[in-house]
Amino acid sequence: MKQQRATFNSKLGLVMASVGSAIGLGNIWRFPCEAGEHGGGAFLIVYIFCVMILGLSVMLAEFFLGRASQKDAVGAFKVLAPCSMWKIAGYNGVVAAFCIVGFYSVVSGWTLEYIYQSATGNLNAGSVEEFTENFKNFTSDAFRPVLWVFIFMLITHFIVLLGVKKGIEQTSKLMMPLLFVILIILCVRSLMLPNSIEGLKFFFKPDFSKITSGVILSALGQAFFSVSVGMGCMITYASYFNKSINMPTTAVSVVALDTLVAILAGIVIFPAVTSFNISPSQGPTLVFVTLPNIFQQMPFGNLWSLIFFVLLAIAALTSIISLHEVVTAYLHEQYKMSRNKAATIVSLSGFAIGIICSLSFGVLSHIKIFGVIIFDLLDFITANLMLPLGGMFICIFVGWFINKKFLKDELTNNGTIKFRLFYVFFILIKYIAPIIIALVCINQLGLF
Ligand code: TRP
Repeated sequence: MKQQRATFNSKLGLVMASVGSAIGLGNIWRFPCEAGEHGGGAFLIVYIFCVMILGLSVMLAEFFLGRASQKDAVGAFKVLAPCSMWKIAGYNGVVAAFCIVGFYSVVSGWTLEYIYQSATGNLNAGSVEEFTENFKNFTSDAFRPVLWVFIFMLITHFIVLLGVKKGIEQTSKLMMPLLFVILIILCVRSLMLPNSIEGLKFFFKPDFSKITSGVILSALGQAFFSVSVGMGCMITYASYFNKSINMPTTAVSVVALDTLVAILAGIVIFPAVTSFNISPSQGPTLVFVTLPNIFQQMPFGNLWSLIFFVLLAIAALTSIISLHEVVTAYLHEQYKMSRNKAATIVSLSGFAIGIICSLSFGVLSHIKIFGVIIFDLLDFITANLMLPLGGMFICIFVGWFINKKFLKDELTNNGTIKFRLFYVFFILIKYIAPIIIALVCINQLGLF
């Protein structure tokens, strides 16, 4: 007997779960860090183009693959193109999910430490230098961050086990709106800091001379990372969509909300960066040094920081769940494992990679591959290589190998909803997206 697949309960829950996957550390931690390292305003412009045009198209293509096949990231290709090599795009996704879980769980663990510090009233350091020092000491420790990775993976594990409806949907529905509210409050606070205008200029005023191929690739990678596309995450989620969902409008809402949160995060971080005289290009430390400084200057600072880091941890949780789900669904469906067993394998191996990534800030920091520590390597390879290439293959597959009428019928729910821009979408995934992504990657490799 064929088992009925789980579906998301309500329309709102479904949008929220996809939004929950998209909004996470990518928006609040990774985005300001990438924008800071790659020239602020120049990066922002390229980013917005990448996310609105390319990210959105790939997301819709993934939605199509997931709902049409009702399968996991690998299974979708197997069903829609039996006996072909396309399933490699699915395997790329499964491997990428593992690598992302590895470094993502480390940063998620950091948020737990900051929750703990705020709750115990210890997140006061005095100067920027001290905050930086404390952060470095903490992250290079061999034990404490690893413990937090463990706790975070444990929570993830149990939510994934609760399954699609109870675990994923409920968590997202409640927490995402809250995160939004607190970000707005922080924006206001940050804009009131002295010298905040310089930060806004850095973030919004593009200096076109700063746009290099490296900036474009990073913006492209960040765009895909932020909206969770390029590795089958949205294929997996869309396989739980029911047949009445309007996928084009869902994709637009997810991308729009995600971009809004990234921009809000920028408005919180950069004014504070200039106000406290922090270097915007200090990478992964940026958020963890800037924010405590803002909180410290607010009345009830510890309380604010507690609320903020709790929400950040939850945003991270709803994202890591979606990564976990990609691999769990794959093992569960392709190897006919129980969900329980599949999830356990993923959690344990994710934890193992997490340990290595965490230690790469401390005892393993001497191991450098291509000149960077393991954490940075996984971050770079996944976001700047696996996601863009995965996204390119997804576009080529849907644009060239799927029957156009089938594609249109699925995206319009058999003609019952309107999708006026279908042809624009089709040209984007068939020609424009693959060409742009290929050019950016080839250019970055220095081949022309
Ligand atoms: N988009 C999430 C964030 O911004 C991270 C994430 C979740 C992700 N699922 C993904 C990134 C799939 C790439 C692919 O934090």
